[in-house]
Amino acid sequence: MTLLSVNVNKIALLRNSRGRDYPGVIEFVDTVVRLGARGITVHPRPDERHVRRSDVFAIRDFVKLHPGVEFNIEGYPSPDFMALVLEVKPHQCTLVPDAPEQLTSDHGWDVPANEALLRETLDQLRQAKIRSSLFLDPEPSLIEAVKAVGADRIELYTEDYASHFGLESEGGVWQRYADTAAAATAAGLGVNAGHDLNLENLPRFLEIPDIAEVSIGHALVVECLYQGVPAVIEKYLEITKA
Ligand code: PXP
Repeated sequence: MTLLSVNVNKIALLRNSRGRDYPGVIEFVDTVVRLGARGITVHPRPDERHVRRSDVFAIRDFVKLHPGVEFNIEGYPSPDFMALVLEVKPHQCTLVPDAPEQLTSDHGWDVPANEALLRETLDQLRQAKIRSSLFLDPEPSLIEAVKAVGADRIELYTEDYASHFGLESEGGVWQRYADTAAAATAAGLGVNAGHDLNLENLPRFLEIPDIAEVSIGHALVVECLYQGVPAVIEKYLEITKA
């Protein structure tokens, strides 16, 4: 069983292209939760080009009324971001090493090079009883350092897997993810995954045992455009329930 966490940044992006609350982020959150999704993810960026601070508080309020739905906030641990996270107290905070102007996350943490920042941030999250996760490239040798800085989970950055999916190189790339997940599990860390996952490439990815959570946004929203929200959520839940 893998938890599907729906990333709603793209809904906010669409909403922001006009002056009205349409499509409403909370309306979409409510829709996917009614359909059975048990996780919501946001990645608030400093320029608020996707979700805004106000969305983060609105989702917090929604989640409080819906026990069993997990809220995951991801982002770079700047002072502003950490203040928001510590105020909202989501179930999980995923730390991502991206610059403010970055289009989307495109690499995992160099844990040794950011040891002091990560230790301090993970300590704050632990004290606030917020589960932590570090966005990570599929590299088993990084796991020891992740464990040492005190993270609860890793989130495997799956862009590389997605871009090799269906190619001859898929097997070797998949194996690197499987090896990193196995090393994390052996070290007592939970394993999440995300980026460029979709209905086609997810089943093969989830042949890796013990993936606790996948967060999916971009492809899921595009798939909803073509197939409709109920059909898409039903298919993801079918894939993740195994
Ligand atoms: N994980 C992280 C850290 C991300 O930044 C993103 C994109 O916001 C995702 C997962 C989800 O990626 P996608 O939108 O491609 O499903």
